[in-house]
Amino acid sequence: ARRAGTWAADRCARLLPHEMADFSKVARAGSPEERLLRRLDRTRMPRHVAIIMDGNGRWAKGRGLPRVEGHRAGVAAVRDVIEVAAQLGIEVLTLYAFSVENWKRPRYEVWALMNLLKDYLRRELPQLVDHGIRLQLVGRWRELDPSVVAQLEKALEATADGRGMQLNIALNYSGRCEIVDACRDIVADWAGGERVEIDEETIGRYLYTSGQPDPDLLIRSSGEQRVSNFLLWQIAYAEIWMTDTLWPDFRRRHFMEAIVDFQARNRRFGAVPAADEESAADRGSA
Ligand code: IPE
Ligand code: IPE
Ligand code: MG
Repeated sequence: ARRAGTWAADRCARLLPHEMADFSKVARAGSPEERLLRRLDRTRMPRHVAIIMDGNGRWAKGRGLPRVEGHRAGVAAVRDVIEVAAQLGIEVLTLYAFSVENWKRPRYEVWALMNLLKDYLRRELPQLVDHGIRLQLVGRWRELDPSVVAQLEKALEATADGRGMQLNIALNYSGRCEIVDACRDIVADWAGGERVEIDEETIGRYLYTSGQPDPDLLIRSSGEQRVSNFLLWQIAYAEIWMTDTLWPDFRRRHFMEAIVDFQARNRRFGAVPAADEESAADRGSA
C-alpha cells in the first residue's frame, strides 16, 4: 500500500527548494527572460507545476521530418524547463512523457520514445544529481521494457537523496488507471485487516503522487484544449495555461509566462472573495 510519503515529512529537515532557488541564474541581463523574471512574484510561486508536453509530431511534420525527430528535438525543451523550474524553486514538476493510450502508436515510434528516454537518463543523470533533483515516477512504469525499467531504477536510486526539486515523470500513465490502482490498494489493505477510512485524504494518499501538493498550474503546449487523462484527481483546482507553441519550441520563457499569468489569477476554490461578501447586516435582513 502507498503511504503518506516520507516526502512531506522528510522535507522539514531538508533545505526547501525555494531556499535553493537562484533567480540570478534564470536569465541573462537584458534578455526578454530577464524582463519576465522581474514580473515574477517570488512569494507567490506555484508549488507544483504539471506539463502536458505535446506537439512533437506536428513540429517534425512542419519541417518535413519523421515524427521521431520531433521527439528528439523535444529533449532540449525538457532540459531547459527542468533547469528553470529548479532555479525558480518549484517544489514539484510533473512531466507527462508517455500515456497508457500512447501504446496505440506505431511500434517504431514507441520504441524510439523508449530509447530517447534511456539516452536522456544516461546522459543527464549526473546533472540531475548535481542539482539535487529527486526523481519519482508516476504511472505503471514497471510494465515498460526491462531495459527501460533498469535504467529508471538506477536513476531513482541515484537521485533518492536529492534535496531540491522533485521531478515526477509520468510514464505509462493514465489518470483513470491511477485511481483504479489506488482502489485496488485500498481493498488489499482492507483484506489485510487495515480498515482505512474512505475519504478524499485517503484516496490522495494511495495515488502515485502520495504526500505531494496538488498541481497549482497545468501547462499544455501545442494548442490542444484537453487534459488527455492526466492527473485527473489532482488537477481538481489547478489553473490551466495553454499555448500554441509546439513542445520542441517550448523554453524557459514560456514557463515563466505561464507563471506570470498564473500569479495574475484569482483562485477562489469555490468561495467568494472576502471583499465581495455581503455585510452582516444584509445577511441579517435577508
Ligand atoms: C507529444 O507529442 C509527445 C508524446 C505524446 C509522447 P506528440 O507526439 O503527441 O505530437 P503531436 O501531438 O502528434 O503533434
Ligand atoms: C498527451 O499527449 C500525452 C503526453 C504528452 C505524453 P497526446 O498527444 O498523447 O494526447 P492526445 O492524443 O492529443 O489527447
Ligand atoms: Mg499529441
